[in-house]
Amino acid sequence: MGGIFVSSARTLLLLAFASTSVVVVTVGSSLFVNYPVSDCVPFSSLFNKPPTLRDETCVDPYKLPGYLYTPPDNDNYQLTSYIPFYDSLYDASDPSFTTYPWPGKSSPDLSDPHVEPEFLKMAPHSWMTDLAEHAKLVDAAANGQDHDAPRLQHLDKYLAWMRNKRVLMIADSVDRYMMVYFCQELSLTATVKARHTTAWCTIPHLNFTIYHWHLAGYYNYRPNWWWQATMEQVTFEDRYEKMFKRTLGDVVGENGRAPDLVLYQSGLWDQVTFAQKYAHEPDGEFSSLNEQNKLMDRQLTWAELRFYMTRQKQFIRHVKGVFGNDTRIVYRSLIPHQQLDERDLMIMNMDRASRIVAHKEGAEVMDWARLVAGFSSQYKDHVHVDKGPMSWLYQNMLMSYVFRLAGGVEHLGVIEHHPMSYQSDLDPWLECHDVYVAKAVENR
Ligand SMILES: *[C@@H]1O[C@H](CO)[C@@H](O)[C@H](O)[C@H]1NC(C)=O
Ligand SMILES: *[C@@H]1O[C@H](CO)[C@@H](O)[C@H](O)[C@H]1NC(C)=O
Repeated sequence: MGGIFVSSARTLLLLAFASTSVVVVTVGSSLFVNYPVSDCVPFSSLFNKPPTLRDETCVDPYKLPGYLYTPPDNDNYQLTSYIPFYDSLYDASDPSFTTYPWPGKSSPDLSDPHVEPEFLKMAPHSWMTDLAEHAKLVDAAANGQDHDAPRLQHLDKYLAWMRNKRVLMIADSVDRYMMVYFCQELSLTATVKARHTTAWCTIPHLNFTIYHWHLAGYYNYRPNWWWQATMEQVTFEDRYEKMFKRTLGDVVGENGRAPDLVLYQSGLWDQVTFAQKYAHEPDGEFSSLNEQNKLMDRQLTWAELRFYMTRQKQFIRHVKGVFGNDTRIVYRSLIPHQQLDERDLMIMNMDRASRIVAHKEGAEVMDWARLVAGFSSQYKDHVHVDKGPMSWLYQNMLMSYVFRLAGGVEHLGVIEHHPMSYQSDLDPWLECHDVYVAKAVENR
């Protein structure tokens, strides 16, 4: 599968390389505030680079080593930025406080939390900042209040790449909360009718929707000990038939047959299932074990690992069966519990398994978990991350995929190509897709 994706994308790129002659206009470093949407870049220059050169351009900033800047005052969490360690940081002149021998009497003061502007400006673009400003202006206009109309017009154009897009999350409540918070950031309310079913958040002005299908793990039957007594369907096959399918009309995006992006993840439900199974059904190698922690707080057995990996593969193929093999699919890496302990060994096993499945099935990895791990105070309970710096980060990471699939190119914190400036017949997603899929196995 992975092979098919990789080779078809390469062929496409090489064909594009061979048959197109394009004048490359560099937009340079003009930041978005004054970005004239009408300025036309013929098309992202990426298509005209051979694959080896694309490897330098196809860099996901969120996957680089970097520093997650979180404002000291949690109320200002909208300033949360990921600062990738680019060359300019490494090659910057030594800060004065590293002088040796240190001349002063007191030790150097290293308490300044602020990132210097020249590195801060290389952080990936905060789409949430624009969206939140846009939402305020839209509200003010709708309520007949005084507002900056030209700015609203500008943002309408600037964010037009989001228009008519559908993102489908097939995941658990961790992502559902991120979707709910996404709506809250824009003074909107997500629709969550019943837990563990389907839910959505729509930005009416942009006709943009994030939809959530609650995945209850990859278990293949509904045992009578299932801990959610009210959950009738457990398997994704059954949940699809009985619950998800009827929402197809709402999740299908611009191409009329698939969401514009599918984000998936499953781990916490599987972990609880695996942990509880032998407590409820003493069986096999575990039948003589009555120490709870050995049943529950442990790695996956090899058989459980094979089960998880295979069921996930079946799940992705099911998704492709519904939406098409070319569906843009992103795996969201698994976060540990608030307090990392031996339960999380299973989560780590599953995350590593998910990465190889993603790689083989042509899915990319949104590695949010790598940046969240350790921020225990940002959890609202033992499994859910709260609204704040980590949800803001999540939302910006998610929007960076939508920007990219719409044709946007960002490099070193600069918007190099705005999707609305030129529409191509080529699928912009494929420009870097094979590079990212190849890298899906590099972490962890
Ligand atoms: C909203 O987006 C959906 C999905 O792309 C599309 O089918 C629908 O026509 C759009 N509605 C409007 C009013 O543009
Ligand atoms: C999608 O991929 C699967 C697995 O490679 C293949 O069996 C199937 O025929 C493909 N479907 C289409 C419509 O191409």
